[in-house]
Amino acid sequence: MSKSAPVRALTPSAIRARKGGEPIVCLTAYTTPTAKLMDKEVDLILVGDSLGMVIYGMSSTVGVTTEMMIAHGKGVMRGSSHACVVVDLPFGSYEESPAQAFRTASRIMAETGCAAIKLEGGVEMAETIRFLTRRGVPVLGHVGLTPQAVNAFGGYGVRGRSKAEADGIMADAVAVAEAGAFGIVIEKTVEELSGAITQRVPVPTIGIGASVVCDGQILVTDDVVGMFPDFRPKFVKRYADLGDAYTKAVRQYAEDVRARRFPGPDQVFHASPQS
Ligand code: KIV
Repeated sequence: MSKSAPVRALTPSAIRARKGGEPIVCLTAYTTPTAKLMDKEVDLILVGDSLGMVIYGMSSTVGVTTEMMIAHGKGVMRGSSHACVVVDLPFGSYEESPAQAFRTASRIMAETGCAAIKLEGGVEMAETIRFLTRRGVPVLGHVGLTPQAVNAFGGYGVRGRSKAEADGIMADAVAVAEAGAFGIVIEKTVEELSGAITQRVPVPTIGIGASVVCDGQILVTDDVVGMFPDFRPKFVKRYADLGDAYTKAVRQYAEDVRARRFPGPDQVFHASPQS
């Protein structure tokens, strides 16, 4: 069990109170050093189950476990003292019943010290969200494209293009907000729907591929800094090319080692002069 972490200014309630105000800045982190690098710049850090793909090279988030989320949640908490840290509930750890969700969520919160959890789903998860929030577990919802359901959806396409699908996602968002979520991630939905949801629900919407109309934005940090070259969704804006810089540094190191230029005089130890 972690020691109880001091309460931060950026609590889930503080994020909730930002509805309609200054946009809420969110990014993912999975490790202590990356959390340290972003902690003061963002309002919310998500330990997303995207770590399955980004860190572990899985083909989807379906194989991510609670143990993985706890290990990375602890790492992020060690590197952060400012942002509101939210940890994803992984696939299979919460959908069965509100009691199962409470067991997983309370374990993750107790062992990592994070402020809240995120779970995917709409109308079908409303009862669970109500159960959790009434028992002291702040919940960030997630509607639209829900990657844990990729096998049911059959892909990662844009959501809400047809009226029927848009109506369903609107009903999901309303149900999640009414159940007590302090905010809702909306993923990969058309702008018209993201805007309508943002107008309709009383809690902040955090968009990922859901346009600037949302109350805040989130992206996978590795996409933002160019460290995840495997694929690049249209909604990502790349702000740096650290992947290229990384490979270049490794190549230069390899060349130096092969040419016996490394280690050089600055990196060498010598024996003390004999007295
Ligand atoms: O797992 C994740 O990283 C996410 C988002 C980026 C919203 O759910």
